[in-house]
Amino acid sequence: MGLNAGIISTGHSYPSGVLTNADLEKIVDTSDEWITSRTGIKQRRKAGSDEYTSQFAVKAARQALERAQIDASEVNLIVCATTSPDQILPSTGCLIQAELGANNAAAYDLFAACSGFLYGLTTVESMIRTGQIKYALVIGAEVLTKYVDYTDRSTCVIFGDGAGAALLAPVAADKGILATKIVSDGRFAEQLYSPGGGTRMGTTHETIDSGQHFFKMKGNELFKIAVRSMTSISQEILEKANYTTDDIKLFIPHQANQRITDAVAQKLGVNESVVYSNIEFHGNTSSASIPIALDECIQQGKIVEGDLILMASFGGGATWGATLVRF
Ligand code: ACO
Repeated sequence: MGLNAGIISTGHSYPSGVLTNADLEKIVDTSDEWITSRTGIKQRRKAGSDEYTSQFAVKAARQALERAQIDASEVNLIVCATTSPDQILPSTGCLIQAELGANNAAAYDLFAACSGFLYGLTTVESMIRTGQIKYALVIGAEVLTKYVDYTDRSTCVIFGDGAGAALLAPVAADKGILATKIVSDGRFAEQLYSPGGGTRMGTTHETIDSGQHFFKMKGNELFKIAVRSMTSISQEILEKANYTTDDIKLFIPHQANQRITDAVAQKLGVNESVVYSNIEFHGNTSSASIPIALDECIQQGKIVEGDLILMASFGGGATWGATLVRF
């Protein structure tokens, strides 16, 4: 019998700093009532000025390795999904590798915004299934609050910081990742982007002064695309694997907005009781949102061996994806 790639362990980490809706009321023209009713968010974690992405990634990855009792030297691949890297060069993946002492791993970063974790799972899945590698860490890690403009109320209320990690390894063919799919549509690039700081608009005093390095988002347009794409890709992979929503123990969507989660769940016909949400406490942590949620579910005993879990994401790019896993 062949093998599948399975998630054998997880971990997560986030900054101790908390930014509440009440804190934001003092910074921009907003209200707890607006943020809660439009997004479901009550607070988000915010890194301090001396904290950075790889620190949270390393803590999450160490937790996953310790729980699986796997030494870092046994890891063959580290994929760090992030839109807020420590720096442009080297990759955050390499910085994580050095800190972990994972000296036998290849490491790289994957840029797919909020879909980064599912893009990572999809990429690594075939490498494990075909025997190219044995142990891989897929990490979603972000310090988005350093890319957020705290004068722009339409973005600063949404994003938060944190990291989640999953350790993947070969498992029996009836377990692990049963179906997974990723999609992009670059025609939506300017719905969520950061124009400055790259080769197209190099960093100058003017680009900094005009805030070109901050995230800019057309939220209500993305909202519709997010609901449509997460619903259709979830239906597609369920069908491909011959399952229906009735078979799912838990649905873990990207935590973008509670209203997006509710709309996708309703269109999929998934009962509210199987939909996981932590957006109230974390806000939108982009690529970290699904692995943080997954680890919370495992630690709380919401996922046990044999359970079928559906994960779906949508992010800037636009990118989207869905992954079906049997634990
Ligand atoms: N407080 C008070 N009022 C606000 C705020 C705020 N924080 N933000 C916007 N408003 C106002 C707007 O100015 C607007 O006012 P107007 O009607 O007078 O012009 C009004 O509220 C409505 O604005 P919308 O943008 O239409 O509000 P919407 O209900 O769409 O909510 C939100 C905005 C929360 C951003 C929502 O659109 C959303 O969640 N979109 C999806 C985001 C997403 O999924 N992004 C991709 C993933 S993230 C990633 O890849 C990193």
